[in-house]
Parts: sequence; C-alpha cells; structure tokens
Amino acid sequence: MTEHVQVEDQGAVRVIRFNRPEKKNALTRAMYAAAAEALNDGGADKDVRCFVIAGQPEAFTAGNDLNDFMQAPPRIGADEPPPVERFMRALAGAEKPVIAAVDGLAVGIGVTMLLHCDLGYASTRASFRTPFVDLALAPEYASSLLMPARMGRAAASDLLLLCSVWDAPRALRSGLITDVFTPEALEGEVMARAEALAAKPPTAVRAAKALMTAEPEPVMERIKREGALFSDLLQSPEFMEAATAFMERRKPDFSKFG
Ligand code: COA
Repeated sequence: MTEHVQVEDQGAVRVIRFNRPEKKNALTRAMYAAAAEALNDGGADKDVRCFVIAGQPEAFTAGNDLNDFMQAPPRIGADEPPPVERFMRALAGAEKPVIAAVDGLAVGIGVTMLLHCDLGYASTRASFRTPFVDLALAPEYASSLLMPARMGRAAASDLLLLCSVWDAPRALRSGLITDVFTPEALEGEVMARAEALAAKPPTAVRAAKALMTAEPEPVMERIKREGALFSDLLQSPEFMEAATAFMERRKPDFSKFG
C-alpha cells in the first residue's frame, strides 16, 4: 500500500483518490498497484456498488511518473503484467460503474482512463492533454480505437497527433466527459451521481454496462442478446422489487441484492 492513493468507502461508493499533490499526482507503480487492488477488491465486494476515481484540487493526474518510465519501463503484455497494466485492465474490465472526477490537470493516462470510465465529470479549470507523440511515445490502452470512435477522427487527431490542450468545454463538446461543474461543486455532484447509481438494481446496472462495453456486433445479434437478457431479468428478484415498489407506491430498496 502507498499513502499516495487513498481508498475510502462512502456507503456503497468506493472512492479511489490519487494523493501525490507535490508531484501533481504523477502516477507511480505503487499507485497503480494500489488503485488496481482497490478496483479488484471492490469488484468482488457486494457492498461496493460504484467507484469514483478522483485526484487533488487542480491535479487529477499529470500522467505516468516520467522518472518511473525511465527507471522501470513497463512491458505491456508481458506474462507478468506491470502495475500500470493491472490497473488499466481492472478499470477496463470493471463490471461495476466507474465515475471520474477531474479537477485541474488530466495528462496522458489521466485522459486515457476517462475512455474506460462510464461517466466523467470535470471542473471548469480542468485541462486535458495526451502528449504521447510529443514524448516520442504511442497511444495506449486502446485509446487509438476508443478516442476516434467516441469523438471522431478529427477531434481524436487533435488530441493524439497535435497533442493539443483541451479545456473542459472542448472536452465536453467531444464527449470525452459528461458534464462540467465549478471546482467547488464538482465532487458533490459526482458523489450524488455515484450514490444514485449505487442505489439502483445492481444486476441491471452491470448488465447495461456490459452491453455498452461489449464488442460491436450486427444489430440483429444485439437485439437477440438484449432480448434474452431482458427476459431473464423479468424473472429476477430485483425486477420483482422494482415492480412491487411501483404497485405499493414506495421507493424500491435494492440494498439486499449483490
Ligand atoms: N512525472 C514525474 N514528475 C512529475 C510529472 C510526471 N509526469 N508531472 C509533474 N511532475 C513533478 C515535477 O517534476 C515537479 O517536481 P519538483 O517540484 O520536484 O520539481 C512537480 O511535479 C510539480 O510540477 P511542475 O512542472 O513544477 O508543475 P506545473 O504546474 O508548472 O506543470 C505539468 C504541471 C503537469 C504541466 C508539468 O509538470 C508537466 O508537463 N508534467 C509532465 C506531464 C507528462 O508529460 N506526463 C506523462 C504523459 S505520458
């Protein structure tokens, strides 16, 4: 464990906070390892329903620690995955929803990880930059696929080729983030959404996320797959609770489901 990542469960929401403000939250191997463990453990814990990834005021993260990159360059795809790959695999494979709260700098992997979060919120003072090409490096963790798919090739090239700095309105316009708030309001707004997600029927939340993150397939195949899932869920205790609560004019309680 490292003091540079704080993990705190606030009810059913696990907050993973980068905490290395003196280095603008540049991410070290120890930090990736701690964040990967927090995601993997939370994935297996039925009381954790949603994750929030956050940073410090004015620094979400300045990206990978460049000293670490030079001293111990990670070998992505090796038999023994390095901590950064363990973290990104845990994030990309998370079955439960993950929300990012970006206040200030998001550089390099700080932007890449947004592509693997379900929702991303930024403050008005956030900035986004992927300087891989400027550093003579390459896009990472499928950002060369996910970025053009999300925002179109022109906008993706502005980030990945030109290495432009985007402000929050620009990131919002291109769909990199979901919404923008003042720095003071950001974490409250994010926690409200995380708590709302955490209170929803967990199997249905995971099912919707799994469908949205699945590999593309023909529309007719997808209709079949959704239909089979829909029929299964109609038999689920979570649906019974939702429908019964509606009939009884009360708020549904999904807290007992895992
Ligand atoms: N790796 C290692 N150290 C980093 C770092 C990184 N990615 N980003 C910032 N730091 C360190 C700085 O070296 C400095 O350390 P020092 O106080 O011991 O000298 C400290 O964090 C503060 O950074 P500083 O550059 O003084 O802050 P700034 O507000 O002027 O600029 C950045 C912030 C993020 C714009 C600038 O630090 C930067 O460009 N960092 C590199 C970002 C990067 O290329 N990331 C890798 C992407 S793959």
